[in-house]
Amino acid sequence: MDKQALSNIAQKMMAGDKGLLAMDESIATCNKRFAEAGIPQTEEYRRKYRELIVTTPKLGECISGAILFDETVKQATADGTPFIDLLVNAGIIPGIKLDEGAKDMPAFPGEKITEGLDGLRERLKNYAAAGLKFAKWRAVILITANTPTDGNIYANAHALARYAALCQEAGLVPIVEPEVLMDGDHTIERCFEVTQRVLHIVFEVLIQQRVYLEGMILKPNMVVPGLGSSAQADAEQVADATIKCLLRCVPAALPGVAFLSGGQLAQDASAHLNAMHVKYKNKLPWALTFSFARAVQQPAMEYWKGKDENVAIAQQLLYKRASINNAARRGEYEP
Ligand code: 13P
Repeated sequence: MDKQALSNIAQKMMAGDKGLLAMDESIATCNKRFAEAGIPQTEEYRRKYRELIVTTPKLGECISGAILFDETVKQATADGTPFIDLLVNAGIIPGIKLDEGAKDMPAFPGEKITEGLDGLRERLKNYAAAGLKFAKWRAVILITANTPTDGNIYANAHALARYAALCQEAGLVPIVEPEVLMDGDHTIERCFEVTQRVLHIVFEVLIQQRVYLEGMILKPNMVVPGLGSSAQADAEQVADATIKCLLRCVPAALPGVAFLSGGQLAQDASAHLNAMHVKYKNKLPWALTFSFARAVQQPAMEYWKGKDENVAIAQQLLYKRASINNAARRGEYEP
């Protein structure tokens, strides 16, 4: 393992006020969002949409790395330029989603286990050869009255740690994403308790599996109430709960934490990231940034609607949401 190279990539991913753009929706997820936005669900429309994203003017000013999906890695613009080349030329590090989705976990009703470890060493070799420098694996944890169970958390943590070790062997920085879902009517306190348990177990197993902490990035949820909760929280409460939880669980050796947005409104996700920087700037051992999909892409996708004449304005909307999150990283976001 080339530890120095891994930590250099991780540092670049967290640099300045930039963040990561998750554009790694699987075919099924991308099609679902296209259907909601009235966009045809074909490979060509997915290619056009990803072309819109990677050709957005000045995107490299805001985004340090883009997480791709396998289909996108092999795609190119209409004039034949591979997306990976465009990203690299824009100063954006290309990465790849490696998990193969969260499946029902046998004997654990309602809970999910993420698959994708089989053949991963070979896949990693091919992705490394294609120029990808980092990867992502997402585990999902559901809060209900009876879940999550430790059996489910440990199984997901083990898969995350095995994936992370294989990434580092291949020279790719692993993004470790244990997402506690917002689905449900639980309180922010319950989200705190579950996120804390999940992160404790995830780091216990990462360390057991000898993952190099300086060469990985954590992608957690923010600590927020459930979407159906009657007791919503303001930005400062979310910032306080999230930072308190991370300080208890995340080793200082980590170069950075890059949040998912998880279905929060785009404005809320930015306001929360901003509140963390306003209050805790220079008081934390790791850099904090965004690794949003929906909270950066949604307005652009909805405006585009699959129409060529809407591309330029959709790109402006994408750039705007990305640069708003840069401002949030500086603690200068204005709603
Ligand atoms: P959201 O920001 O839409 O939650 O997506 C982030 C992500 O990469 C989910 O795996």
